[in-house]
Amino acid sequence: MKNIYLETFGCQMNVLDSELVSGQLSALGYRFTSDINAAQVVLYNTCSVRELSEQKVLSRLGRLKIRKAGQPELVIGVIGCMAERDGVRMLRRLPHVDLLCGPGELDQLPALLENVLVTGKQQHALAGNTSRRTHTLEAVEEDGLELLDLSRSFSPVESKFQAYIRIVRGCNKFCTYCVVPYTRGPEVSRSPQAILDEARKLVDAGCLEITLLGQTVNHYVHEETISAAGGPALRRTTFADLLYRLHELLPELPRLRFLTSFPADFGDDILQVMAQNPRICRYLHIPAQSGSDRILKMMNRGYTCESYLELLERARNIVPDIAFAGDAIVGFPTETDADYQTTRELVQAARYKNCFIFKYSPRPGTLAIKRYPDDVPEALKRERNNDLLKVQNQICHELNRQLVGKTVTVLCEGPSGWEGTGAADSVIAGHTTVAARPMAAVGEAVGGSGTVELGPRLAAAFLPAADKRRQGAVDGGRVQLTGRTTADQIVVFDGPPEMRGKMVPVRVKAAHGMTIFADVVGGV
Ligand code: 5AD
Ligand code: SF4
Repeated sequence: MKNIYLETFGCQMNVLDSELVSGQLSALGYRFTSDINAAQVVLYNTCSVRELSEQKVLSRLGRLKIRKAGQPELVIGVIGCMAERDGVRMLRRLPHVDLLCGPGELDQLPALLENVLVTGKQQHALAGNTSRRTHTLEAVEEDGLELLDLSRSFSPVESKFQAYIRIVRGCNKFCTYCVVPYTRGPEVSRSPQAILDEARKLVDAGCLEITLLGQTVNHYVHEETISAAGGPALRRTTFADLLYRLHELLPELPRLRFLTSFPADFGDDILQVMAQNPRICRYLHIPAQSGSDRILKMMNRGYTCESYLELLERARNIVPDIAFAGDAIVGFPTETDADYQTTRELVQAARYKNCFIFKYSPRPGTLAIKRYPDDVPEALKRERNNDLLKVQNQICHELNRQLVGKTVTVLCEGPSGWEGTGAADSVIAGHTTVAARPMAAVGEAVGGSGTVELGPRLAAAFLPAADKRRQGAVDGGRVQLTGRTTADQIVVFDGPPEMRGKMVPVRVKAAHGMTIFADVVGGV
């Protein structure tokens, strides 16, 4: 059987898609390898949100062209958003690519791959901007994509006890800079029953943290006709209803999260459900994108800086221990220094736990590229990016320092530096990925996306011992472990490896930059 090398770029949706695709292909007998040279099939699950992500894939494809010249039977596939965005043009431009599959067609991937292997001819499955799905998925059994979500297998240790469940596919917001509505199609809310069934299966398989995914997760709404005593009736499930039902149905699930929230139409009902149900994580990833009302309007975001900050205040009042994460774009067309200052002030006022900062990247097919010239020079974008990153890092240090002396409960993911296949980032060789998984940050460059290095003093003081432990050296039966708080902060502590997969109370003893160090309460 063939070995497949699969590399994933982009957001959590792509991470989940890759997991589902791997499950499906493994069930058909394919094996997966992390060594690209040992693979007969190379698949890239791609992201189109910024040009940089696409360039990375193009450079990998360039390298593979040389390899394929000497190994013509090598199969090269591009799946995900870039396949959908570029379409068959890519097959013409890059004839060594054998297979294209859009994110809405991934259930067809095994058949496409089989066809390539049998015929040696290029194959593609793309939605071409027309979704074959209805607004809500009632005919679940007829929808192959829905079956793909339902067919997953889950391995607790490999996945660090965490799993994603997609609840809303696609997006209807059409922010003027964004390709997602074009590549992932219109917003579709999955049936609550399918979501509940999937969650139940994951929990039965040992999952301790479920993250509900949607580009605008709070816009989840599902309507279905049910038969009632007085005749057919319409049953409407809102996002708050869904959260409540999941929380009720799964009393043994310690953590339920959701990503990403859209700042307009964020109802108090969601905040109330969070406040009343402590197993719903105190964490809201709610991108503002800009602090300038003029720019927000040009972006088609549908809210003002003031209403955004009011929402954060409302959320803090109803859920006092809530933490926020944001996304910001600098250098959007026509952005002046004064506009940028408002973004800076918004970030200061929001006091995000972390904020993902991006330089505006004009994307083909979007309204922004058609309407507005990309007139902010690259050097100025970089300057604003670095400046905003400094502001955010300062806030992050302050918030982390406030934790010193406090006891928090973490979900222990295992030895630090150990990388599962799953949802979370981890502490690797002196780098702390502060990222709490923005909707598009896996595989992104450091430039502003929130990755920091420990300072040399700390590295000298802490890392040699930590490195030893990471490399498996046992220190009185203890290793260096990492865990996450409900607010998605990464905490490093020592303990026995068996703590993996446990909810562990720890007392924070130090916060150095982005990294929080703690001791297990009661010792180990
Ligand atoms: N340029 C820069 N950043 C972008 N994002 C989306 N599209 C673009 C673009 N064209 C950012 C937004 C979004 C995150 C996933 O990526 O901040 O929230
Ligand atoms: Fe949708 Fe988010 Fe893109 Fe806006 S930025 S169009 S909400 S995916």
